[in-house]
Amino acid sequence: MPDYEKIIADLYDEVAAMAPKGTVAAYIPELAAMNPQHFAVTMTTVEGQVFQKGSFEEKYSIQSIAKVLSLSLAYSMLGEAIWTRVGVEPSGTAFNSLLQLEADSGIPRNPFINAGAIVVSDILISNLANPKEEFLAFVNAIAGRTDIRYSAKIAASEKSVGYRNIALCNFLKSFGNIHNEADAVLNFYFDLCSIEMNCTQLSAIFLFLANAGVSPLTGKKIISATQTKRINALMQTCGFYDESGEFAFKVGLPGKSGVGGGIIAIHPQQYSIAVWSPRLNSKGNSYKGMVFLEEFTTRSALSIF
Ligand code: DON
Repeated sequence: MPDYEKIIADLYDEVAAMAPKGTVAAYIPELAAMNPQHFAVTMTTVEGQVFQKGSFEEKYSIQSIAKVLSLSLAYSMLGEAIWTRVGVEPSGTAFNSLLQLEADSGIPRNPFINAGAIVVSDILISNLANPKEEFLAFVNAIAGRTDIRYSAKIAASEKSVGYRNIALCNFLKSFGNIHNEADAVLNFYFDLCSIEMNCTQLSAIFLFLANAGVSPLTGKKIISATQTKRINALMQTCGFYDESGEFAFKVGLPGKSGVGGGIIAIHPQQYSIAVWSPRLNSKGNSYKGMVFLEEFTTRSALSIF
């Protein structure tokens, strides 16, 4: 086994010392107010070892990373029928693009672009009695926690400027691919994106995707092994939007980013690793997070390829 402790400690210091590049997400006022200096990493192995450095106890908005968890719950409830509502192809476009929806008759290319995650939100609203509470309970239960919360402040902040998502939801509804009231779907979507976690929690919660769908922390089966394979495949091909090819090329692991500056990456059968640095590159992905993970898989000489 690579000396993960040393690799993380050395690499953290090297990447922390690099000149800052990129900017915090400016289009959501509450995120724009974030301290851009934070830098944290937590790696958790399926055997339960934890290696971490930096501000790993500091909570941040996980944003689009939460789309993997909403997909997991919706997929576990609907099974393969979910793919009639949302596709499994990389979009090659920005996360908030409206471009392909018209040509694709309102079926989003994949569940991680905003359009796809809005459809998944609609599915959850249709299938849960108390969607907001039950989704949060699902997230907490994955790692046997009770302390993961939404941020009402961030959700309200995003809603106040949510023009593109409001447009996407209404556009999807015009094609019949939103079954509930657009406002209810959008409120759920904004809440989902506002979930806050620190790197320790994020890494722990995502460990089920490294362990065939079973959380090694609780022994609880979250999704099946086949569903795990498919969600990891989607993270690999679509997790970084129009930078997904670049992430696969450089890092070689399935992963998912969020505009709060977090990234989660999974090494099946081995570990999950959460990195957080709020400055984003032009594709909306954490600049230092990408650099860290590229060098991490290079030094540990392990990736899925
Ligand atoms: O809908 C949005 O624009 C945000 N709540 C989430 C976008 C996001 O995190 C994209 N990821 N890099």
